[in-house]
Amino acid sequence: YGDPSQKIDYVFKVVLIGDSAVGKSQILARFARNEFSLDSKATIGVEFQTRTLVIEHKSVKAQIWDTAGQERYRAVTSAYYRGAVGAMLVYDITKRQTFDHIPRWLDELRGHADKNIVIILIGNKSDLENQRAVPTEDAKEFAQKEGLFFLETSALEATNVEAAFLTVLTEIF
Ligand code: GTP
Ligand code: MG
Repeated sequence: YGDPSQKIDYVFKVVLIGDSAVGKSQILARFARNEFSLDSKATIGVEFQTRTLVIEHKSVKAQIWDTAGQERYRAVTSAYYRGAVGAMLVYDITKRQTFDHIPRWLDELRGHADKNIVIILIGNKSDLENQRAVPTEDAKEFAQKEGLFFLETSALEATNVEAAFLTVLTEIF
């Protein structure tokens, strides 16, 4: 997980957005520290973590920003999106409402971020297949229509978390 002595060729800022409790902070914990917590607390304000990885022989420092899904805990929106080259738009596959809110998040993102930002739609909690409320096909179709990448992940089982970040970081590259 990153040799601190290595020189950095690029720093890429990536933002996480989506409703509260969809798993944004745990996706980040899994990616940055390979950790997961079931009693994760709601994020207040903004946090970020970094991880340096090698992509196409260059060392890339991914600076991942995480904010509160809850409106009352959110920080200043324009500052959050400033300089972001990637975005992860997260919903919970067991909560239909979190998927239905995705167009709103996308509007906010497109209103504030650079127009070339790379966006991936993420259906998290794929480990809870027996509670699924959002068919994979619905999300796939939406992503295709909006020109987004798409993956289902499980921060708990570490499924596709690495792949999701690599998809964004490689495309930025
Ligand atoms: P806010 O900070 O309020 O915006 O929420 P968040 O999107 O950061 O959610 P958080 O990461 O705190 O996770 C919310 C709850 O979902 C916690 O209890 C997590 O343990 C749980 N959770 C996150 N990812 C997964 C997952 O992949 N599978 C399962 N089963 N639970 C998960
Ligand atoms: Mg959080």
